[in-house]
Amino acid sequence: MLKIGNVSLKNRFVMAPMAGITNQAFRLIVKRLGAGLVVTEMVSAEGLCRGHEKTFRYLRGFPGERPLSVQIFGADPETMARAAKMAVERGADLVDINMGCPARKVVRNGSGGALLRNPEAVYGIIRAVRGNCTVPLTVKIRAGWSPEEANFMEIAGIAEECGADALIVHPRFVKQGFPERRTGASSGR
Ligand SMILES: Cc1cc2nc3c(=O)[nH]c(=O)nc-3n(C[C@H](O)[C@H](O)[C@H](O)COP(=O)(O)O)c2cc1C
Repeated sequence: MLKIGNVSLKNRFVMAPMAGITNQAFRLIVKRLGAGLVVTEMVSAEGLCRGHEKTFRYLRGFPGERPLSVQIFGADPETMARAAKMAVERGADLVDINMGCPARKVVRNGSGGALLRNPEAVYGIIRAVRGNCTVPLTVKIRAGWSPEEANFMEIAGIAEECGADALIVHPRFVKQGFPERRTGASSGR
């Protein structure tokens, strides 16, 4: 059995969060197929803190899919900490911080994968979220920004030092984006 913090999972199968795909219905199906843990797609911390109704919809979960992890993204420690608290208040059993998204609109704000280039920000965000979050905290990273900046060990050390309960690694570089679509075109997300 896998245990993350005080949350026991019935097995080691964790569904990867996928923006635009892993909605409630998808998660429930994956859960019924046997997953030990399902995760929301990434939710904007800024959107939650600004009270955007549409952003709050991403937090909705069915009782049947628990334990549910809510993934948040952002660049500001205080905003991320507040967003984590909101997610927990709305039923998140775990909180996951996105530090791997390569989408232009995310990295240009210093969020997602861009954080791997800024260890100080990583430190500030994990510390702030940890301090405001009563459930197990996980951090999802990539191997680094690029092969020249493969700093996953440094980021892992920071996550551990700041009290993260688990680290999830997508072992590609941020610059690699996503796997090619079947058409052969790069997804460019
Ligand atoms: C369409 C799509 C959307 C994704 N969205 C997210 C996301 O919101 N948050 C995240 O941490 N990872 C996201 N990912 C990355 C996946 O969670 C996973 O780490 C990645 O696809 C590696 O697994 P693979 O090699 O089996 O594709 C996404 C991947 C895909 C293909």
